[in-house]
Amino acid sequence: MNETPFGFMDTSYKAAGGIEGIAKLVEQFYLYMDSEPYASSLRAMHSEDLTIAKERLTWFISGWLGGPKLYHENIGNINIPNFHRQFPVTEVEANAWHECMTKAINDQPYTEEFKAYLIKQFRFPVDMVVKASNINNN
Ligand code: HEM
Repeated sequence: MNETPFGFMDTSYKAAGGIEGIAKLVEQFYLYMDSEPYASSLRAMHSEDLTIAKERLTWFISGWLGGPKLYHENIGNINIPNFHRQFPVTEVEANAWHECMTKAINDQPYTEEFKAYLIKQFRFPVDMVVKASNINNN
């Protein structure tokens, strides 16, 4: 039983509670980023007002989980590693990002199976961002 059904069509989007569920997840994620001491350098890279960041991360995750491609519809294409090259992302910020997201996921009313799946899935873009960051390649 290594296969999970979550990568198929919009099963993940639905398991996350659709757009409202994703908005709650993102809200919680930024609350952790705002308050956890280990996330202070990550928080410092962000704008003081997180309204736009929250909206855009919600839009991105919607499409990423197989739901409506709201980021694409509202903003256009985004390549996550390329977008983040402008920030000096080290393992510290990448691990903080993943830890805040893990905590936020664990706070949601998702099944244990979906939580574990999602936590693992977020590791891929997180690792791509830190590998692409210019601070690690110059
Ligand atoms: C690995 C560590 C990461 C760091 C340090 C980081 C940092 C940032 C920063 C500083 C911003 C700009 C926010 C602002 O201006 O207030 C941002 C925006 C964003 N990030 Fe990340 N991020 C990381 C990982 C990720 C991952 C894994 C995803 C997707 C799964 C993601 C998706 C986004 C999106 C969609 C935006 C908004 C883009 C826009 O402004 O159009 N980030 N990130």
